[in-house]
Amino acid sequence: MTVVPLPARDAGGAAAGSASDTRPGAGVAEEDGAGPSRAVAIRGLTKTYAGTKQEPPKTALKGIDLDVPRGAFFGLLGPNGAGKSTLINILAGLVDKTAGTVRVWNHDIDRERRAAKMAIGIVPQELNIDPFFTPRQLLDLQSGLYGLRRSEYRTAEILEAVGLTDKANAYARTLSGGMRRRLLIGKALLHSPPIVVLDEPTAGVDVELRKNLWTYMRALNAAGTTILLTTHYLEEAERLCDTIAIIDEGELIACAPTVDLVARLDTKDIVVTVEDDLGAVPAALGQFDVILAAPRRLVFRCRRSVNRVREIVEAIHAARLVIADLSTTEGRLEDVFLALTRDRQKAVT
Ligand SMILES: Nc1ncnc2c1ncn2[C@@H]1O[C@H](COP(=O)(O)OP(=O)(O)O)[C@@H](O)[C@H]1O
Ligand SMILES: [Mg+2]
Repeated sequence: MTVVPLPARDAGGAAAGSASDTRPGAGVAEEDGAGPSRAVAIRGLTKTYAGTKQEPPKTALKGIDLDVPRGAFFGLLGPNGAGKSTLINILAGLVDKTAGTVRVWNHDIDRERRAAKMAIGIVPQELNIDPFFTPRQLLDLQSGLYGLRRSEYRTAEILEAVGLTDKANAYARTLSGGMRRRLLIGKALLHSPPIVVLDEPTAGVDVELRKNLWTYMRALNAAGTTILLTTHYLEEAERLCDTIAIIDEGELIACAPTVDLVARLDTKDIVVTVEDDLGAVPAALGQFDVILAAPRRLVFRCRRSVNRVREIVEAIHAARLVIADLSTTEGRLEDVFLALTRDRQKAVT
């Protein structure tokens, strides 16, 4: 896949929030020739879904403040149900917020809805594509919906960019999951938005496609596009994103440069299963931070940055134990959460 260079153009044209805009809220970001300093600015964002007979109302976002700097590769992390899609769908104008202000490329999503929409391209979590359209028809149709003139259509270029030229005239229902995902990415890029938002783009896709998507997103970002990505894979966020925000139960619990977050999480568990039941951690392993998690399972807590596997294996052999299995669990998102919620509790008490 090659990347279509995306001029960071001000899609809407309307002068975003004039200097006389003094309302509290997201505020107007400073602008230079390439656009506002903040691609997205969110203040006090709250969303309560109405309840039904069976379900009580659900507050999915509880007063989120968040800035996405222009040019960032920004990761929004959180477990299922944290509120990620709700936030993304509010940006996209697909879900109405309950309270708060949101500016997209300096356009208030309530007052400058169209300009805000033109500044953003969304790749939704669900692969909802009309099965009876071909990729070419779908992209042409979408270009029309964006109000582009025929001469501005970039269907061929986009199909090429997402590697679907040879599928241009195939019915969408015949496309594989990976192709549909790429088609949706193409659809989000049609109007050259300066911000591209991808909601769980690699959930359920195979390893090879995931790598392709990563390469593509990196190239888009390098070409100047601000990227906002949601994921529940820490590894993905770690490898791609320069900044990570973590939301949990509708609250922002961290927002920091990736390197800082990862440094906070410099632990790794090495889990060793032995062939005989143990009553306690053998004294010979006293030099390690280790617990007996089950009669045959020893869990060594290590610094992630220091590889101690060989040392541990040697010490276990020296203790005359036989290893049946060995695995490592790297700082996963859960651990970030645990660490952060512990911090939160500490801060309270
Ligand atoms: N249309 C809806 N109606 C009611 N509740 C919803 C709706 N969409 C999402 N929710 C609820 O809001 C919370 C956040 O969901 P969502 O934003 O999809 O989280 P995430 O994308 O992080 O998994 C969840 O508890 C979910 O059940
Ligand atoms: Mg979601």
